[in-house]
Amino acid sequence: MTQIITTVAELRAALAQLKPTRTGLVPTMGALHDGHVSLVQDAKKHCDHVVVSIFVNPTQFAPHEDFDAYPRTLDADLKKLADSAAIVFAPTAREIYPDGFATTITVGGPSAGLETDFRPHFFAGVATVVAKLLLAALPDVAMFGEKDYQQLLVVRRLVRDLALPVTIIGVPTLREADGLAMSSRNAYLSAEERRIAANLNVILKETIAKARNSDLRAAEAGAIEALWKAGFSHVDYVAIRDAESLDHITTLERPARILAAVKVGSTRLIDNMAI
Ligand code: PAJ
Repeated sequence: MTQIITTVAELRAALAQLKPTRTGLVPTMGALHDGHVSLVQDAKKHCDHVVVSIFVNPTQFAPHEDFDAYPRTLDADLKKLADSAAIVFAPTAREIYPDGFATTITVGGPSAGLETDFRPHFFAGVATVVAKLLLAALPDVAMFGEKDYQQLLVVRRLVRDLALPVTIIGVPTLREADGLAMSSRNAYLSAEERRIAANLNVILKETIAKARNSDLRAAEAGAIEALWKAGFSHVDYVAIRDAESLDHITTLERPARILAAVKVGSTRLIDNMAI
């Protein structure tokens, strides 16, 4: 039976009951799909009890973004977690951001560029809420998806810089049968947009193959052209970067990553792959 908890005090009391076992935290914004569930299943390999947080974090959305429209499906989410999560922590905004809240955590390093160029508010919102969630649950491990690769690196940096006593574990991206990375935002896509969206992963794979034999900037430019041709309405970026630092690179001597953000209709999709 999953316990559903809404305050930090109750969460800490429930976790104290579980001591001295190992706990894992899976932070989410809900609207759970199999990708989220794979994080929970992976967490179980590393700990005895899994806490899943479900909180649509207002501070990581800009005023013009989809905070109000973001899918909220708590009942269905709880059903998906019934067999795997010991605790679902579903706080109110007031619980996380009490009256007069005045603290923001800004992570430099891997947050520079890419998502930040298009969502400048985003990583401060993520870092602040992730720090709060980690400090509320004080888990032994916490799971983050490679789907949000830059976010994973920002969280690793945050935890290292603040010496938070938790091990961050990155989990590979779970994909639909046609390769589209699972995402809560896929629910926004019409049938035609869903068809177009499936091209993103294919073009990234083709671009990786090209990058091995050509100039990296030429490979990125080719990807942008292919994305336009496939029907995407906007390309925010396609970038081949160092896999650890996200620094700019000109050769593939070290592990690299291709990262992309596009729009299909008004829905923004991100994806990335190892090179
Ligand atoms: P959300 O988008 O709900 O994602 C929660 C976690 O699930 C993240 O670590 C994300 O990378 C992972 N995830 C999403 N889609 C995935 C997929 N297809 N395969 C594997 N993992 C996947 O990311 C957030 O929420 C928020 O920014 C959060 C970290 C909770 C802070 O508010």
